[in-house]
Amino acid sequence: MSKRVLDACCGGKMFYFDKDNPDVEFCDIREVDNLEYYPGRFLTVKPNTVSDFTNLPFEDGSFKVVVFDPPHLIHAGDKSWSRLKYGRLEEDWEDTLRDGFNECMRVLDDDGLMIFKWSEIQIPLRDILKIFQAEPLLGEKRGRNKNTHWLIFMKAARAQEVQNEKP
Ligand SMILES: C[S@@+](CC[C@H](N)C(=O)[O-])C[C@H]1O[C@@H](n2cnc3c(N)ncnc32)[C@H](O)[C@@H]1O
Repeated sequence: MSKRVLDACCGGKMFYFDKDNPDVEFCDIREVDNLEYYPGRFLTVKPNTVSDFTNLPFEDGSFKVVVFDPPHLIHAGDKSWSRLKYGRLEEDWEDTLRDGFNECMRVLDDDGLMIFKWSEIQIPLRDILKIFQAEPLLGEKRGRNKNTHWLIFMKAARAQEVQNEKP
């Protein structure tokens, strides 16, 4: 893979300045064409690859940066605008998020970084970090911006190696 960045669940690519950036492999489990998810608001989901973040079709260590912004709602009506726009977690959500995190780490280069976004609307960040069993390098700890946290993780094995190298 010559692209350096993977977005494992890109949705509407809201935070990209260039939604067709050739250096980003955009993935999502669905394709959506101009859906009116809320009166007057439209969503297009146009991934390069339709794939499941719990089973990514890439080799180990393929990307320098992995972006992981999974669904964050467990309670959302089938036809609610939030489910249409962001997706919804199902009953096995803990396994799904753990498997997704581990899969994103697998395809991350040893010296790469993972950018994780979590909106703490229904599930607190501390519960997610317990599921991941990983400590972020840095990030917005208090989620002041509408309960949204942006965190950066390093690959665990490499981070441990560096710790061990300390005099
Ligand atoms: C919070 S939204 C991402 C929003 C996106 N970052 C944006 O800027 O619009 C979560 C996305 O994860 C996708 N998704 C849900 N389950 C998935 C899975 N197992 N594998 C890949 N994508 C998944 C949903 O289709 C949805 O587009």
